[in-house]
Amino acid sequence: MKTIVALNGSPRMYGSTAALIQEISKGTRERGAQVTLCHLNEMSIKGCQSCYACKTEGRCILQDDMQTLYDEIANAHALIFATPVYMWQMTAQLKLAVDRLYPFLKPDYSSHLAPGKKVLLAVTQGRPDTSMFHHYFEHAGKNLAFLGFGEVNILIAGGTHKPEDLLSQDAILEDARRWGHWLAE
Ligand SMILES: Cc1cc2nc3c(=O)[nH]c(=O)nc-3n(C[C@H](O)[C@H](O)[C@H](O)COP(=O)(O)O)c2cc1C
Repeated sequence: MKTIVALNGSPRMYGSTAALIQEISKGTRERGAQVTLCHLNEMSIKGCQSCYACKTEGRCILQDDMQTLYDEIANAHALIFATPVYMWQMTAQLKLAVDRLYPFLKPDYSSHLAPGKKVLLAVTQGRPDTSMFHHYFEHAGKNLAFLGFGEVNILIAGGTHKPEDLLSQDAILEDARRWGHWLAE
């Protein structure tokens, strides 16, 4: 069975971002793939220490929960990078993990990742206008593509202060299922 790894950068275990991941997961299950959820806020992940050991040794030497994530990411068919918007950006929890993806880049900037891993950036935000931070997530997506992830798409749900705000938006639920299908293909 194909495995899709979801990194949830929200501190809320049962918040709107978790609800969005659940809706995407319904779509992946319909196509026979399961989602492994990693709740970054509950994991011990240090910021990158800029030691560059990853460039000489080919792996990160910081011994924390990223070591498990490296294997999960390398073995995943596809990934969901999920975050609420905090101060117009991804949360610090997700940014810590993204910085720690540096070991996937070789010194010549080619990637250690197997080609073709699909990525969905799944975002929730309080503001109803979903175009507002789109440019920022396009930029974040380009970085993931540079790291060696394959096609990157973006799904943004607006007006979410609690999960019910998301679950009452039929169009977003439909989009989430559809992106789940895409991830699993
Ligand atoms: C510290 C903080 C900063 C936030 N900054 C923004 C923001 O810049 N723009 C926005 O639309 N919503 C912002 N929000 C609202 C959240 O993005 C929104 O409620 C989100 O859906 C919460 O997701 P969660 O339930 O998974 O934590 C912020 C919330 C917090 C707690």
